[in-house]
Amino acid sequence: MAVERNLPWKTSRETKSIVSINRPELLLLLLLLSFPRSISELNQMQGYCAVASDSECSRSFTKILIKEGTVVNAHHKEVADVYIEDGVIVSVRPNIKVGDDVKILDATGKYVMPGGIDPHTHLEMEFMGTVTIDDFFTGQAAALAGGTTMHIDFVIPVNGSLSAGFESYKNKAKKAVMDYGFHMAIIKWDEEVAKEMELMVKENGINSFKFFMAYKGSLMVNDELLMQGLEKCKSLGALAMVHAENGDGVAEGQKRMIDLGITGPEGHALSRPPVLEGEATARAIHLASFVNTPLYVVHVMSINAMEEIAKARKAGQRVIGEPVVSGLVLDDSWLWDPDFTTAAKYVMSPPIRKAGHDKALQSALSTGILQLVGTDHCTFNSTQKAFGFDDFRKIPNGVNGIEERMHLIWDTMVVSGQISVTDYVRITSTECARIFNIYPRKGAILEGSDADIIILNPNASFKVTAASHHSKSDTNVYDGRTGKGKVEVTISGGRVVWEDGMLNVMPGSGKYIRMAPYGYLFDGIEKADAAYLASLRAPVQRTKAAA
Ligand code: URP
Ligand code: ZN
Ligand code: ZN
Repeated sequence: MAVERNLPWKTSRETKSIVSINRPELLLLLLLLSFPRSISELNQMQGYCAVASDSECSRSFTKILIKEGTVVNAHHKEVADVYIEDGVIVSVRPNIKVGDDVKILDATGKYVMPGGIDPHTHLEMEFMGTVTIDDFFTGQAAALAGGTTMHIDFVIPVNGSLSAGFESYKNKAKKAVMDYGFHMAIIKWDEEVAKEMELMVKENGINSFKFFMAYKGSLMVNDELLMQGLEKCKSLGALAMVHAENGDGVAEGQKRMIDLGITGPEGHALSRPPVLEGEATARAIHLASFVNTPLYVVHVMSINAMEEIAKARKAGQRVIGEPVVSGLVLDDSWLWDPDFTTAAKYVMSPPIRKAGHDKALQSALSTGILQLVGTDHCTFNSTQKAFGFDDFRKIPNGVNGIEERMHLIWDTMVVSGQISVTDYVRITSTECARIFNIYPRKGAILEGSDADIIILNPNASFKVTAASHHSKSDTNVYDGRTGKGKVEVTISGGRVVWEDGMLNVMPGSGKYIRMAPYGYLFDGIEKADAAYLASLRAPVQRTKAAA
């Protein structure tokens, strides 16, 4: 059963419509009419403030000075001050002097880092007969409370139309409280789709397309479509992404489990073993090599897939591997829990693997075999998960993570000594910005970069609970986890949006970040094409034999 907690977006149906309204005065009026108490009272109670304008709630300073923290970028760290004005970083150096109109944040003994960028989320996505429970308001509010200041969500075409899909997601994102970008899924192929891909890249700021090699009968593409998609991506300078599982194999595995009478959540993991992920990863890599275009493998969950990526990278191929938090810190044992609600919350695809895969993925991340961390935040509450009570094939696939990623990766990778603080910034922020061609606007604390910044206290601790998280879901796959390192302040677009355990967000304040094609992964691709053509020694000029 879903448990409704006392958070503003859960209190009434009216509340939902309020947060989607974009006009500040109307929003404030509706908030006042809808709630029995004053906004400030609610804010105190619930650790949350949906401000209607910059003058509401705590005052939103446009000038901020972060004093004497250790400023960390992907390749360097130093003790310095950071001065922010109107949403942009103006100066990074020691001893910056400012006037009284500037909010001062003392970061002594703390790390000042670029806000996290989550490359993989599904907010308000229609999937498996339902819709993910976190929308662009609740999902992003959760993200900000956990130190993530930008995410890239996957647009799903509507009735096969990319433009309709884009419009639909533009609408969903009207209540955005932080910056976001879009990838686009390709689920069918014809001339119209090819034309629309071009439109998405040239007009709409999308520079990546995702192909699902699983979910047979809904999102899955076959090899012919994947090949056409890879060719088109290459011609546009757009990055091809794959969900790599052998969808035919999965369908067969599911049938096998049902025939064996295994209908519970454990059947999900058993029906789609690592070998099917490894096979599809290898196939996608080989096809991308044949086309000579870069490839991005999303949610790498197994040693099998990771080793295919390692092999390809060693051979010089441009393949990016994205593990997600669930694959890095969880194992599949929960799927065997006798309580259905507990087990079902861990159902995602590819599945969370047996213990051992998690540690191997951590090592791959620390040694550069895998490059950046996502979440695949795709939340369904326990009522939605219960759609599959009698049949694991009907359990909506997906887990949370957008709020927990920065803390869990800090604790698992930095506190354990597996990676440096600079590498932490690289894998949670900078590398994503580089791959999707928005660096150094995002992913850096440099003069001129957007003021998306976190202050992390390495001596404080965090605890994850479903009762205290900001997601709309009633469950959390990391429930009860504790660790070292706490994001105490989040600054998004130059505003302090998370401080003293309080969110101070403004629906509609998040900006759509357009991403240009031909990111760094495309540099020099044409030279490899030229070398390939030169190597053919064909067509051979032949003279006709005399009659
Ligand atoms: O289980 C998952 N991963 N759900 C989200 C859709 C996808 O495959 O990324
Ligand atoms: Zn996927
Ligand atoms: Zn996903």
